[in-house]
Amino acid sequence: MPRPRPFDDAFGAELDRLFRWRRDVRHFQATSLPENMVAELVATASRAPSVGYSQPWRFVRVADAARRARIHAIFSACNAEALAAQPAERAALYARLKLSGLAEAPEHLAVFVDGEAPTGGGLGRATMPETLAFSAVLAIHTLWLAAAARGVGLGWVSILDPVAVAQALEVPAGWRLVAYLCLGYPVEPAETPELERCGWESRIAPSDLMLQR
Ligand SMILES: Cc1cc2nc3c(=O)[nH]c(=O)nc-3n(C[C@H](O)[C@H](O)[C@H](O)COP(=O)(O)O)c2cc1C
Repeated sequence: MPRPRPFDDAFGAELDRLFRWRRDVRHFQATSLPENMVAELVATASRAPSVGYSQPWRFVRVADAARRARIHAIFSACNAEALAAQPAERAALYARLKLSGLAEAPEHLAVFVDGEAPTGGGLGRATMPETLAFSAVLAIHTLWLAAAARGVGLGWVSILDPVAVAQALEVPAGWRLVAYLCLGYPVEPAETPELERCGWESRIAPSDLMLQR
């Protein structure tokens, strides 16, 4: 006799719907999020799995206008470099992409990994030290889904110089940038990625992503 499951089929179907509708959002409404929303999302994100239970994720809520302006300037410089590096046939399309909602998003959240986190006692990461950063990525994905479930959009900005961002935010030595996140209510929900709608990339068939040995 199977044990009762904590979640029923209806919940599973809703969860699948969440996975399908979770988007990277770059177009935000100006409306602020409720004051406790970011803290609530960070608390949920902190339930993510982590190597050796190290919980190496660190969050910085960036509210200061001058610091936000520095981050935006870092993005603009990095994005200009990325545009210059595009092959000729991609450059015009790249120039049209909107690759951050930094100017509009009501909330900015920088996520770091503490490379010197003593928690976890080094368990599991001796052979693969990158598992510490993988753990921070899992926290981000958890936060992304929790945000989507609340109708909050999240945009991941990686076109940044991570050292310059760490300096701009004056974080402790040993913290390495994993993601800079924009959060806010999306202008409109979308079932397909923006990069697919713009013709930049298309979805790969799952059967093409799996080998059998
Ligand atoms: C590690 C990582 C870095 C990303 N960096 C950026 C970025 O700098 N700018 C941007 O517009 N989107 C960025 N994205 C979002 C992706 O473009 C997006 O996830 C992808 O196009 C699929 O769309 P979807 O998330 O809506 O399904 C990033 C996503 C990940 C996972």
